[in-house]
Amino acid sequence: MSEQKLEGEDLFESIAQDLSTKGYSICSNAIPESVLKPLMQEAQSQLNCFNRAGIGRQSQHVIDDTIRSDKIRWISDDTEAGSAWLNWTGELKQYLNRRLFIGLNYFESHFAHYGVGNFYKKHRDAFVGQGNRVLSVVTYLNEGWLEEDGGQLVIYDDADKEIERVLPQSGTLVIFLSEEFPHEVLPAQRERFSITGWFRTGSRT
Ligand code: OGA
Ligand code: MN
Repeated sequence: MSEQKLEGEDLFESIAQDLSTKGYSICSNAIPESVLKPLMQEAQSQLNCFNRAGIGRQSQHVIDDTIRSDKIRWISDDTEAGSAWLNWTGELKQYLNRRLFIGLNYFESHFAHYGVGNFYKKHRDAFVGQGNRVLSVVTYLNEGWLEEDGGQLVIYDDADKEIERVLPQSGTLVIFLSEEFPHEVLPAQRERFSITGWFRTGSRT
């Protein structure tokens, strides 16, 4: 975890280095306040428009309470908060494409809300040869999160050995290769907001 506060290109460079050396990156205080604060407000004020999250894509989409119990809302650039977030992730995408030649194209992201007791069991965001999610991006909108609040993101390596545990503290940014790292969200003991997104290659569908 990068402990000192990195901004702009220094942050992007540190993410690029982490991705090329270990395939994932975790940075605290990574999202600028001017992007984070409006997202926090929007997530809270739109909570009544969140929907139960499913698993699988398109025709395979099902809601399964035993795997995940959070609710989500997709982010668009129709609001100022959404467009500031999409601008910021757009800059990150451009930097990573130039630096790592990974051909990231489309970005999609949603808010997620975990009520007390909600979780997301161990899963991968993409499977080799299926879909085109390349990089997973997760950030959080919760101030003053404590260990006893639960809701940690646990990241495993390809052999299912635990490698990281992340508190969902506002501004912390987690980025990882979507196909390579199984991960889970432990049951939250307080209301938990996150944003999850994916950089993809290819087109929208
Ligand atoms: C996801 C996910 C992690 C988190 O939405 O796919 O793994 O910490 N989220 O919210
Ligand atoms: Mn996931």
